Amino acid sequence: MNKTIIANWKLNLDHLEAIQLFQKLNYSLDNDIDKKIKIVVAPSFTSLRSIQTIIEADKLKLYLASQDVSEFVEGAYTGEVSVTQLEKLKISFCIVGHSERRQHFNETDESINLKVHNLINKKIVPVICFGESIEQRKNENYLDFLIEQVEKSIKGLRKDKVDEIIFAYEPVWAIGTGETPSLQNIVDVISNIKEFLSSKSFFDEENTKFIYGGSVTPDNSKEILNTQIVNGALVGGASLDVDKFIKIIESIE
Ligand code: 13P
Repeated sequence: MNKTIIANWKLNLDHLEAIQLFQKLNYSLDNDIDKKIKIVVAPSFTSLRSIQTIIEADKLKLYLASQDVSEFVEGAYTGEVSVTQLEKLKISFCIVGHSERRQHFNETDESINLKVHNLINKKIVPVICFGESIEQRKNENYLDFLIEQVEKSIKGLRKDKVDEIIFAYEPVWAIGTGETPSLQNIVDVISNIKEFLSSKSFFDEENTKFIYGGSVTPDNSKEILNTQIVNGALVGGASLDVDKFIKIIESIE
């Protein structure tokens, strides 16, 4: 089954620690891991170059994601990292709109949309996060809120460009809490978003992917990842522990 598993290391590990964890992951991966499973790591910006060098030198079948990107392409924007810089580093994926960025760094739907446009122009796959807070969840219309988040993130894109996107459903209340929605709930949310995208002819059965993130562990990964509509996982805490991360990957049947 075609699945994408992304390790989001968040603000953890200096570049030496990141290399160590990456090498441990690489050595621990069974060579027989299904080629259809894409394994992606998303370290901090400071570790991207070191890990990219290892991937390239050893021709590894592992992929790199950035945890964010600037909405600006170049110029006087101190502290930003651009899509062009990521492209040069052969970064394959980029997480955008993570709830931690929306919450702590006031990331707006508009800037997420700009980032998505820039990434697609450079053929870097955007991993667009969407999800409701616990307060929004209590509102009956939370599905409308999720659809709106998705709609705003892809505003102005050509329809054929949306095919390549990965949408990551990450309920804010499930991140780092040990709580997860029921499987049926995950399926319902993804089905609704798929229906919305299809109604706008924005969905491609072959290519558009939906993954789930929020307290994914070896205990729940089997159930979540072997559900047809779920094309993978965005893993936080458990991805910092190689044994747990590998168990998550191996739970794919
Ligand atoms: P946890 O797996 O630690 O809940 O984090 C999920 C997440 O935010 C991945 O992007």
